[in-house]
Amino acid sequence: MRFSNYVEGMRSDGTVEVMNAWQIHGEARRRQRAGEDIILLSIGDHDFASDDRIVAACCDALHAGRHHYTAALGEPATRQAAVTFHQRVIGEGIGIDNVAIVPGAQSGVFTTAMALLDAGDEVICFDPMYVTYSGALMAPHAKMRFVTLRPENAFQPLAADIRAAVTPKTKAIMLNTPNNPTGAVSPPALLAEIAAIAEEHDLWVISDEVYCSMTYERPHRSPRLLPGMADRTVSLYSLSKAFAMTGWRMGWVVAGPAVIERLDLVLSSLLFGTPTFIQDAMVAAIDQAADEVDRICALYRRRRDAICGALAAIPKLKFSVPEAGMFLMIDVRETGVSSIEFARSLLAEQNVSLLPGEGFGASQAGFLRLSFCVDEAQLLVAAERIAAHVAKISR
Ligand SMILES: Cc1ncc(COP(=O)(O)O)c(C=O)c1O
Repeated sequence: MRFSNYVEGMRSDGTVEVMNAWQIHGEARRRQRAGEDIILLSIGDHDFASDDRIVAACCDALHAGRHHYTAALGEPATRQAAVTFHQRVIGEGIGIDNVAIVPGAQSGVFTTAMALLDAGDEVICFDPMYVTYSGALMAPHAKMRFVTLRPENAFQPLAADIRAAVTPKTKAIMLNTPNNPTGAVSPPALLAEIAAIAEEHDLWVISDEVYCSMTYERPHRSPRLLPGMADRTVSLYSLSKAFAMTGWRMGWVVAGPAVIERLDLVLSSLLFGTPTFIQDAMVAAIDQAADEVDRICALYRRRRDAICGALAAIPKLKFSVPEAGMFLMIDVRETGVSSIEFARSLLAEQNVSLLPGEGFGASQAGFLRLSFCVDEAQLLVAAERIAAHVAKISR
């Protein structure tokens, strides 16, 4: 049997450390499903269901016979809903010609990569990075060039490091603000420097903004708002986090009409349209359940405050308070054990599952990602168990 270099490359891209990191999450999930009292803080999915208004709209659409093929870029009403969200949350006026509906931001990254990149093109990525970008960016055989994000720089890249990573083959910068896994939000000055580099070297900025509505200190600012950047930036959005709709697989790409026209070609060959009744649910979410976005943001802000307050009291652990999203990175280096060992023993002895930082890039050895996707009471119990664990291993 002979398989493509691409798919085999996806497997070998998973180093032993990455695989070990995710195995711990897999084990936690298996034990939780078997009924054990596991506090699962290793994945970014909400612990509550999507709003009833959205579910009802989907059921109504199914009963109304919305079962047929649809346009590859999405129905006009769905694209218009994305325009409404964009005006509300990003603060930019766009038209439906700027929107392609995709089944989740993940497929937005994949289709964007297919539309923009060729074999041998280089994409500047950051380490740590949301893990599944690599499979998408490698699909057209592009190469990733990594710039390390350091905790001492609040996990923000230095413009000088980005400049140093540019080569004649560079075609794009893969930006993710607000960030998974660090919870950092790129400040306007950094965005301006990234925009200047993109302009100077004629680069695309692929901008993953799926956490745009979950910011706790200052509003999200999209790089596309900077002068000259709207046509250079391909932005990715999704209902997954903003509306607690991860399993619906619904997202959209915002870009200049020339990019959207290319995405139409890719989406026609890949998907032939996103399910009509789920498109109707997206319209209902944005038009009828907009209050969900603020409710979810406020809920996660309270969770962030609760877990950060509790972790701050644990000696030997360091962390930066995340400005956005549902994750924070904990530095366990002072405990003297590796992040993988810390996560393994924490799960085995205290039934709490965190994700070793190695799952997001080699630079994160010694760090663990904690997702605050459970209620405050459980977060406080998790913090007590983590404190007991640190006390035990530090003895
Ligand atoms: C940074 C980032 N981008 C994209 C995604 C995927 O989002 P979607 O569910 O819309 O495919 C996630 C999911 O966790 C994420 O954290």
